Amino acid sequence: MESKEITISRGLEGIYIAETTLCKIDGANGRLWYRGYPIEVLAENSNYEEVSYLLLFGKLPNRKELSAFRERLKAERDVPPVVFDIVEEMSGRAHPMDVLRTCISSLSIYDEDPEDKSQQANIRRAIKLIAKTASIVAYMGRYRQGKDYVPPDSSLDHSANFLYMLTGKKPDEMAAKLIDLMFILHAEHGSNASTFSTLVTGSTLADVYAAVTAGAATLKGPLHGGADEAALRMMYSIGDPDNTETYIEEALEGKRRIMGFGHRVYKAYDPRAKIVRKYLELYQERNPSEEVSRLLQIALRAEKLMLEKLSKTKGIWPNIDFFAGPLYRAIDVPAELFTPIFAASRMVGWCAHLFEYWQNNRLFRPLDNYVGEVDKKYVPIDQRE
Ligand code: ACO
Repeated sequence: MESKEITISRGLEGIYIAETTLCKIDGANGRLWYRGYPIEVLAENSNYEEVSYLLLFGKLPNRKELSAFRERLKAERDVPPVVFDIVEEMSGRAHPMDVLRTCISSLSIYDEDPEDKSQQANIRRAIKLIAKTASIVAYMGRYRQGKDYVPPDSSLDHSANFLYMLTGKKPDEMAAKLIDLMFILHAEHGSNASTFSTLVTGSTLADVYAAVTAGAATLKGPLHGGADEAALRMMYSIGDPDNTETYIEEALEGKRRIMGFGHRVYKAYDPRAKIVRKYLELYQERNPSEEVSRLLQIALRAEKLMLEKLSKTKGIWPNIDFFAGPLYRAIDVPAELFTPIFAASRMVGWCAHLFEYWQNNRLFRPLDNYVGEVDKKYVPIDQRE
């Protein structure tokens, strides 16, 4: 048999799959830009609708463009009938991400013209998906708490409306800022696992709904989107801040991973984690709560120990998911919705990457190196041992 040197890149580590103008990550220095704008600047000054426009259209909108884009999002905020059925049927039996993935997939039946593959039609689909996914997640949260659907409020922007549809209360300015911040920070992040699987599915020329459903399915895992919930659950298991060091030491000795730490690309402090930590501390200062104070103490002590132990030796630093849980708890978001919110925020990143990739589409078809036998003798079933 032909033998040649084969290099396998496990997890496609170090492999470039496309050119992009969407997002640059400088993993060595912990820097991140969306379309050239530093994430810190967008987090401080922008909002999710503006960032979504930037990602989809390649430029920051002027007032008129932003207002028209907002109106289009608002017009798509309703939760369609089949979604109520799916949420009600699946919620007691399935993981929230399974429910959400199924709901996202079901949105294809409401497409105005599935045969229209134009960029304009795809933008229309992206707007529908961004608006409706947030409303679906809010309703999933309501249903799980045994509460009724709250219809959208057109006086609120995208993320504040999400929080309103989830809690039934109009958020104050600070809570609205925090949820919007989380939507911005999760909107985009290069060719991460869920975006990559969106592209793989899209590269077959399957439609937008199929591609982002694959993205949502991929996001579920604890090594990707599920880490924020897992990190918070770890903090609850630690319970008392004084238990933090013992818990972390034992986990590391037992070769268990500390969720919310480490990243394939960042070998420095994830800039998004710094922003989340800053706003969490600010919120706690202004709206002190016992639960958040305890979680924050645990998080800061765990961070200190992890930095001492693993940052220099293994390049393990906090990622966005580490402080996300306490921040969500500060604004009353239940843990089981963290990953669904991540999906709702990342919907724009999935769509923007897909549309960019389609401009120069090539079917993904990597190779694997077969290491089994060949030409084995076929034994009829009755003669097998
Ligand atoms: N806790 C403890 N040790 C860790 C952690 C962690 N969180 N992450 C990596 N390590 C260790 C590994 O055990 C390994 O040690 P070894 O060389 O002694 O075997 C070394 O660091 C390298 O680990 P890899 O698995 O090779 O690193 P990789 O780049 O594949 O992992 C990943 C990245 C999957 C994110 C990993 O750091 C991890 O599992 N983190 C916890 C889950 C998490 O927080 N995910 C969210 C990522 S951000 C996001 O998706 C939004």
